[in-house]
Amino acid sequence: MTELAPGFLWGASTAPHQIEGNNLNSDFWASEGRMPGMERSGDACDSYHRYREDMRLLADAGLNAYRFGIEWARIEPVPGLVSRAELAHYRRMIDTAFEFGLTPVVTLHHFTSPLWFAQEGGWLGDRAVERFRTYVEAVVPILDGVEWIVTMNEPNMLAIMVGMARAMQSRQDAGQWQSPTVDNEGPRPQLPAPDVKIGARLVEAHHAAREVLRERTGAKVGWTVANRAFVARPGAEEKMRELEYVWEDLYLEGARGDDFVGVQSYSSQWVGPDGIEPHPQHPDNTLVGTAYRPDALAIAVLHTADVTDGLPVLVTENGIATHDDTRRVAYTGEALEHLFKVIDAGIDVRGYLHWSLLDNYEWGHWEPTFGLVEVDRETFERRPKPSLAWLGETARRART
Ligand code: FCB
Repeated sequence: MTELAPGFLWGASTAPHQIEGNNLNSDFWASEGRMPGMERSGDACDSYHRYREDMRLLADAGLNAYRFGIEWARIEPVPGLVSRAELAHYRRMIDTAFEFGLTPVVTLHHFTSPLWFAQEGGWLGDRAVERFRTYVEAVVPILDGVEWIVTMNEPNMLAIMVGMARAMQSRQDAGQWQSPTVDNEGPRPQLPAPDVKIGARLVEAHHAAREVLRERTGAKVGWTVANRAFVARPGAEEKMRELEYVWEDLYLEGARGDDFVGVQSYSSQWVGPDGIEPHPQHPDNTLVGTAYRPDALAIAVLHTADVTDGLPVLVTENGIATHDDTRRVAYTGEALEHLFKVIDAGIDVRGYLHWSLLDNYEWGHWEPTFGLVEVDRETFERRPKPSLAWLGETARRART
């Protein structure tokens, strides 16, 4: 049997904007009202008020970790005004995790920023890094006892979102919304590649945050990178390396010197001599259009360990958009088998956090459901799916 690292984390992940509801001061909330083809987040899962129930579900299932985020737009709704009440709110969340025996993995930025920050020029604005550092400094006092901190979620996907937002600003019509996490298929345009200039700025912001956190907390600090698990067709190896740099390695190199790196993996991507090959339509494709590839997780972890010179890996997201929970269990079971093989081969993996605890707001769409728990959008009632108990049982078995 695979020997897991002591204290291996077993749990699930969420992001504030996707579950809290009414994130009124954020840039994403503002764009929801403007873009055709984009559903609103609204009350989301009302986890802002119901986080205790969410955490209880995880703990009752036998899991020991919960990744959630702190929302910058709530902490600092206008520049320089730090809300003590919101800081206290997130401290209560951290304390609740401890109360339930859950290790909190806290994300400080998960795609969304305050609207004022975006209006000031966002991540390419002159003051971007300084603004982010000031926000991180404001949050530090509530992070006491937190062992795992993610400065930023998927900076590579964030770079795409920032690039898309800029492109839209310069157009007359708003255009049709394309969620960065919904894969291009059929008539949809290909996702643009992340812009390296934006990427370099995000690396700078990550390093600034890391410096603050290192100085003033005892936590392990890292960031999480979306991994596309590229696989080259014969003869396309060089093309693949080129793409890997722009899509992932810039950010993985930015993780060097961190305490850990978060791996986020959903599917794999073929690369041909001309570049990324769009997934053909296939009945097995997931609800976000990606190919069913549970083996992607091992490809992602190996590539990450390689580029980061063997940094400890935390799987911070892995999951499948499906209405069929049996498929979720099958996908996750297979992904874990692949992960265990990589651990057997000596890669230092510290935990597995499934995406996601709840069916939630998938960046413009409610249709793709990734949750271990279904949420009634009117009553907010939580209905655990069999996959939640299954994951808890898998964790329990792995511990004995
Ligand atoms: C990742 C995001 C997460 C969610 C999943 C499906 O790219 O980090 O918020 O959207 O994809």
